[in-house]
Amino acid sequence: MKMLLQTPVILDVDTGVDDALGIILALNSPELDLRAITVCGGNNGLEQCCLNTVRVTHFALKELCPAVAAPVVARGLNPGGKEPEGAAVHGGDGLGGISHRLAFEGEDDLIVPQAAPVVRAVLDHAEAAGEKITIVTTGPLTNFASWTLDMPDLLLNTVSEVICMGGAFRAGGNITPAAEFNIYEDPSAAAVALAFCRGDERSGPAIPITFAGLDVTHKVVLRRAVIENLAARHPHAAMPAFVRDLTTTYMDFYERVRGLEGCALHDPLAVALAIDKSFCAIEPLHVEIETRGEHTRGMTVADTRDSLPAKQNPKRTTGVCTAVDADRFEKFFLQRVTGIEAD
Ligand code: BDR
Ligand code: CA
Repeated sequence: MKMLLQTPVILDVDTGVDDALGIILALNSPELDLRAITVCGGNNGLEQCCLNTVRVTHFALKELCPAVAAPVVARGLNPGGKEPEGAAVHGGDGLGGISHRLAFEGEDDLIVPQAAPVVRAVLDHAEAAGEKITIVTTGPLTNFASWTLDMPDLLLNTVSEVICMGGAFRAGGNITPAAEFNIYEDPSAAAVALAFCRGDERSGPAIPITFAGLDVTHKVVLRRAVIENLAARHPHAAMPAFVRDLTTTYMDFYERVRGLEGCALHDPLAVALAIDKSFCAIEPLHVEIETRGEHTRGMTVADTRDSLPAKQNPKRTTGVCTAVDADRFEKFFLQRVTGIEAD
């Protein structure tokens, strides 16, 4: 029998509807070994994001992949201690109004109160076992930036790459004309994270970092008609109806704001890149984060110039997703999160 070599992963989320879909995708992907899910405030307050995370994880394990080991879920930080701004997008509870349906006894006890010790333990274990960890972030970079200050050497020794959903490079933003939500929520954290991963200019990147930003994530869509049909055709399967109900409010938002009959699959695309990079074309660019601009705070400024100095810049090491195979990704996503093979 052929052994599948799994990629050990820490997933950092601000659960949200599309984070929830990203969690389900990660859990039901045999290529990944999800060791811990750490939570950041963002799409809702930190406590609600923690509850959403533990509820979605519990539900997906029960209904979709009961043989998979439950990852640790740990509470991280709230960006800037401020009120969440994503409520209009993801519904008042961050899960399109269905979070309470997933509540279960003992759920609070499953949330480890601090993420940093959990991350340290996962990385220590990896170091002892000679393994490398992939970190995928689908929320603001607050947690990851704090780890770069707490345990820089451990990260450098044990993390093979960081994949972030965040940024808008050639595309416009979704919070302001310039900025995408995850970066806008904590631009200083994003700047710290990026500088840490870029490393010293002469020795090249310390940890390869890739951004799946709006340039590609707005192109991958779960269509309303597709999930509604799937749920109707499989009335006894739990996941299609669940995904339909989870995404209804989120799709209403996309219809109002972008005229889309469906919703963007931002966070699942970042998770999928930990499985298969070939979903996207990835260009190495020099990227900086705008932390102060009056109109550009949270902008991910990529040097896309054709000039020789730009092309020879040693800081041109940040992976930026510039194109995506949307059809292939959408089929892959649907099969993994519903458990139903395409016809
Ligand atoms: C990002 O913002 C959040 O609302 C989503 O969960 C996603 O991570 C898209 O800009
Ligand atoms: Ca998110």
